[in-house]
Amino acid sequence: MTVKIGLLGLGTVGTGTAQILLDPTGRNPLLQDINISKVGVRSLDKPRQVQLAPGVITTDLETVVNDPEIAIVVELLGGIEPARSLILQAIAQKKHVVTANKAVIARHGDEIYSAANEAGVYVLLEAAVGGGIPIIKPLKQSLGANRISSIIGIVNGTTNYILTKMTSAGADFAEVLTEAQQLGYAEADPTADVDGLDAADKIAILASLGFGGRVKREDVYCEGIRQVSAADITYADQLGFVIKLLAIAKGAEGEISEQLQLRVHPTLVPKDHPLANINGVSNAVLVEGSPLGQVMFFGPGAGAGPTASAVVSDIMNIVAILKSSGLTTTLDPLLSCVHQHFCQI
Ligand code: NDP
Ligand code: HSE
Repeated sequence: MTVKIGLLGLGTVGTGTAQILLDPTGRNPLLQDINISKVGVRSLDKPRQVQLAPGVITTDLETVVNDPEIAIVVELLGGIEPARSLILQAIAQKKHVVTANKAVIARHGDEIYSAANEAGVYVLLEAAVGGGIPIIKPLKQSLGANRISSIIGIVNGTTNYILTKMTSAGADFAEVLTEAQQLGYAEADPTADVDGLDAADKIAILASLGFGGRVKREDVYCEGIRQVSAADITYADQLGFVIKLLAIAKGAEGEISEQLQLRVHPTLVPKDHPLANINGVSNAVLVEGSPLGQVMFFGPGAGAGPTASAVVSDIMNIVAILKSSGLTTTLDPLLSCVHQHFCQI
């Protein structure tokens, strides 16, 4: 049984995703049964790094979400619109959705997940936080027995890359930002990275998962790294600290309450703290809970390959369930409990 998927977006992450799907040899055999049927983009004139059959790439994004043969829509456009509307349209057509779009989930997660519940489809988002680091599913599933007390992370690769280069090489902010853009780490509008908005989206999602409720994106205090100067970094170093952009959710004992602090800001991190040595584009998320204690998730936080690894693993999870249930497009009602467990945030 071949499962047909539609990609929305063939930029950094879309290209990385297509590259994995088009080269399944030596990977999980499930990949051999996934076919990229349509790909929606903005421009047909851009050179592409992947070879797709003629007619697969289109600028008509609606034909991707409306194609009755497509079972899974993979949204890799970024931004709020048209991503939100297309995700909702795909769900209304009973298609499963995989997305890397933290901006749309942090702001419209309620609407999207309630539509998905009603339609009985999955919306998976492993790539939305931490790039290639498995964090969404582990936080929701593997740590589910714990009462979480804090989630503290370096969750933006671009700003960590900039701060690391400013610290280790005394590099100039603007120059390193351009480098991060060329490496495919930054958002289409890098303001989202530099001003902490992307990290705020991510901590809103992690806190919703970890504390088992809905954190409002607008409740996250947010300050970026624009004001961090070379002198700040030098003084911090002399005092035994490094400066990191941390995303913090803490203070509530296992639930969302007024005690829950939600903030993103440059922070003085003692040099012997586990987050102090997370450098370059790497991300790390330190979760504390009871009875577990502390656990840290670490790995590449952005970029084509690592992010595509998370996107494709979500696609494969859905394909595995579709195959085991003998379905291609709709979700067996018996699986709805798995769905609840799997993707609700
Ligand atoms: P890019 O800007 O590289 O790619 C976006 C793609 O979407 C392009 O193919 C573009 O078409 C297409 N697109 C965007 N808007 C429209 C539109 N209105 N109509 C038609 N096509 C459109 O983004 P990324 O690949 O970097 O990011 C994609 C998503 O993944 C975002 O949500 C981002 O936050 C998330 N993400 C990114 C990571 C990274 O490291 N880059 C890591 C984790 C998540 P065209 O090619 O024709 O311009
Ligand atoms: N722009 C984001 C970052 C991409 O730099 O972390 C990964 O979500």
